[in-house]
Amino acid sequence: MVELEVIADGAVLVGDDGMIRAVGPYRELRRRGGRARVEPVEGVLFPGFVDAHTHALFGAPRLAEHELRSQGADYQAIAAAGGGILSSARDVRSRSRPDLAKLAQTRLRALLASGTTTVEIKSGYGLSVQSELDQLAAIGALRSPPSVIATFLGAHEVPPEFRSRPEEYVDLVVDEMLPAVAQQGVARFCDVFCEPGVFTVEQSRRILGAAREHGLALKLHADEIDGSGGAELAAELGATSADHLAAISPAGIAALGQSSVVAVLLPGTMLFLGKTARAPARQLIAAGAAVALATDFNPGSSPGVSLPLMAMLGVSQMGLRPSEAVIAITVNGAAALQQAETRGQIAPGFRADLVLAAMEDWRELPYWYGVNLVQRVWVGGAACHLRGLPVNFAG
Ligand code: NIG
Ligand code: FE
Repeated sequence: MVELEVIADGAVLVGDDGMIRAVGPYRELRRRGGRARVEPVEGVLFPGFVDAHTHALFGAPRLAEHELRSQGADYQAIAAAGGGILSSARDVRSRSRPDLAKLAQTRLRALLASGTTTVEIKSGYGLSVQSELDQLAAIGALRSPPSVIATFLGAHEVPPEFRSRPEEYVDLVVDEMLPAVAQQGVARFCDVFCEPGVFTVEQSRRILGAAREHGLALKLHADEIDGSGGAELAAELGATSADHLAAISPAGIAALGQSSVVAVLLPGTMLFLGKTARAPARQLIAAGAAVALATDFNPGSSPGVSLPLMAMLGVSQMGLRPSEAVIAITVNGAAALQQAETRGQIAPGFRADLVLAAMEDWRELPYWYGVNLVQRVWVGGAACHLRGLPVNFAG
């Protein structure tokens, strides 16, 4: 995770199909480029950033909860009182699909403007068969760029109508939601919020086992706040990623280290919730795990879209080296979405997803914060328009 190749006065040769043909010093590539059109740029060119964990399809921000937490209430207490995820679910259920799509489109532009060229978006504010399918349909209908990968998160919370019989909600996820999601082909991954007070390890195992039978790849919100053995479960099931991990156990660290599960760490979440725990990035890497960083962009625990900010937090809060932090938002983010063969690197055979940042030294990326230094973005070789940014971001 520490090896970054840096090319001074470099160039990227992009084919008509939007894929990278060659990378190297400009003087060498100019000869190979033949009649290629040359677009000069100044700054540092990074691979497009890959945000492997967001809940970017939501309605209103949760401003009152932010104030409540400032007065000492905590995330779980707010959730137990019917706020939290349930309050966003009520909001999302009450909105029309065009309204939600418009909001999500605005937020996608903000992600793109921060350099994100591929983003995973989860459902999970529907919590009924129809509403989850509607959310996944809305995610599927979003206009690129950035390109979007959908995850089914029906098991994000137990909805009010099932509060006294959570096992029946798990039945609903397994017997009705998953078959419909698989039949409609609207999600690549299935995720579960495996956390004390939400879904147990046993329930998560049941849901993810069923998801695998339906051909979905697996993710897990694991050991986010209190921890319950989610990381061990992710390793046991061969999940693509285990996400959060601020409360992972030593056994969980060892299990992930010996597996091919990508550890997706979300430093914005603990910071925003005012919690001091941090995912043990160094221990995970020492145990042999691949570490990615993502935003967790959502209205409850991480209302932010910037992967460069997550990279800065990875360095300052988790002890990642700057090169590890850059790899965590590119190569390893792509691996956490099963896209590592074509995204996350500037190399021949990769999609020409590129981010130009106004800096002289690549180490400035995980350094400056509160300022967006992304100047230009290309997805599949096509230049994206970053102007006309959202005025009504909150909807
Ligand atoms: O990753 N933990 C579960 N899901 C989100 C929070 C979603 C919300 O609060 O709306 C998370 O932190
Ligand atoms: Fe999340």
